[in-house]
Amino acid sequence: MLKISGATSITLNVNEEDREVIVRPSDTLLFTLRKGLGLTGAKPGCENGDCGSCTVLVDDWPIKSCLMLTVEAIGKRIVTVEGLKDAPIQRAFVERFGFQCGYCTSGFLMVCHALSKIHPDADDTVIQDWLQSNICRCTGYQEIEEAIKSILGEKI
Ligand code: FES
Ligand code: FES
Repeated sequence: MLKISGATSITLNVNEEDREVIVRPSDTLLFTLRKGLGLTGAKPGCENGDCGSCTVLVDDWPIKSCLMLTVEAIGKRIVTVEGLKDAPIQRAFVERFGFQCGYCTSGFLMVCHALSKIHPDADDTVIQDWLQSNICRCTGYQEIEEAIKSILGEKI
């Protein structure tokens, strides 16, 4: 990990683009994405790792961006909901009514997208295990589960 002592310009690979941004040592990835790069799809919820609304992909794995320092993400591939580009899970959420207020939705989309790539044969146990990482205050869990099941095995 790069050690920085004050505000420093770094390069992050976000949604397949190299982006330059000024960061401080204590900035979280969530803060930098939203305030430094203007990518507001990842949402601040609890900001302590419980709710998952801030989830992004880092080297293809869902990561709670409120728990990762920005400097830890240097040299890794970051994908936010803005970079999903018509992924099947987005269509599935619309078709299966996988959101209500929508605050948790980008986080769930990122988890479900990663799950569909990493475990295309996931059974109910695996799906429920993965979805535990995120909280939907509108309690739309059944619809979210139906959405992920509807796209498993689709070519992504
Ligand atoms: S805001 Fe990151 S887990 Fe809740
Ligand atoms: S749709 Fe409202 S919090 Fe999940």
